[in-house]
Amino acid sequence: MNKIKKVVIPVAGKGTRFLPITKTISKTLLPIVDTPVIQYLLEEAVQAGIKEALIIIGYSQNDVINYFNTESTYVQKLSKDYEEIKYIKKLKQQIRISYVFQEEAKGLGDAVYHAKAFADKDDFALILGDDFVFSNGLSTYGIGSLCKFYEKNPNYYLGVQEVPYEMAYKYGIVKPETQISNCFKIDGIVEKPQNNPPSNMACVGRYILKNSIFNYLEKTKVGVGGEIQLTDALALALDKEDIYASEFDGIRYDVGSKAGYVEATIAVAMSRNDLSENMITDCNGLRLRYW
Ligand code: G1P
Repeated sequence: MNKIKKVVIPVAGKGTRFLPITKTISKTLLPIVDTPVIQYLLEEAVQAGIKEALIIIGYSQNDVINYFNTESTYVQKLSKDYEEIKYIKKLKQQIRISYVFQEEAKGLGDAVYHAKAFADKDDFALILGDDFVFSNGLSTYGIGSLCKFYEKNPNYYLGVQEVPYEMAYKYGIVKPETQISNCFKIDGIVEKPQNNPPSNMACVGRYILKNSIFNYLEKTKVGVGGEIQLTDALALALDKEDIYASEFDGIRYDVGSKAGYVEATIAVAMSRNDLSENMITDCNGLRLRYW
């Protein structure tokens, strides 16, 4: 069976929308309740059956490496008493984590190109850290839904979601051609269209990429925002490759925005038995009880 075994997670962005906290802490380490975003992303990959992860970090992001370091004496001690720390050790046994530095922020296409050696000859998954997918109790969600499509028909798959037309300028937008079971074959894709988007189906941070993406990235010129865009490489690929788009299971939050981050935090908190009984919602929103 065709299986996706590798995932690439670029997290090198500066996170300026979350200043001041991102002055010293990487955005991907911001907690949703008590667990950093990056840990949820890795769990999503593990649920999808993925065994190896490459995290693409910027030069000032040793804090990400430190987070997953469980070797120090202090952490060894903690892991004796705290399940939360034991859990990180377990996660690392389920998925092998490696890192690569992206020297300059030259765009998502450039970040993905840094995964060439890691991917070797394999097709792989890509998870973007600003898009958090809450499982809501499902075992197959987010990238797992796309992996299932790939297993049946190994091709490019893009996770998409309908967005209001006036929001299309923020996303890579696909042009659906024909519907094939739960997927759309696409015949166009545009990065952040300023007007006349080809649809309101937006790429929302989950991709299955074939190894040939590296050939297209090599031919991709600087695009929107002066950056190498993955979307432009996918547009080049469309000449020769079949690319499908599909919605995926789970609830997606834009944790790159403050509102989305707060929403995700509330959703996760409400789903947790240890917290939800201390939380009440009413018409004025969410309140916490302290008694
Ligand atoms: C990136 C991609 C864009 C995609 C978006 C999803 O944009 O370039 O195609 O729709 O992620 O979150 P960014 O949000 O990094 O500008």
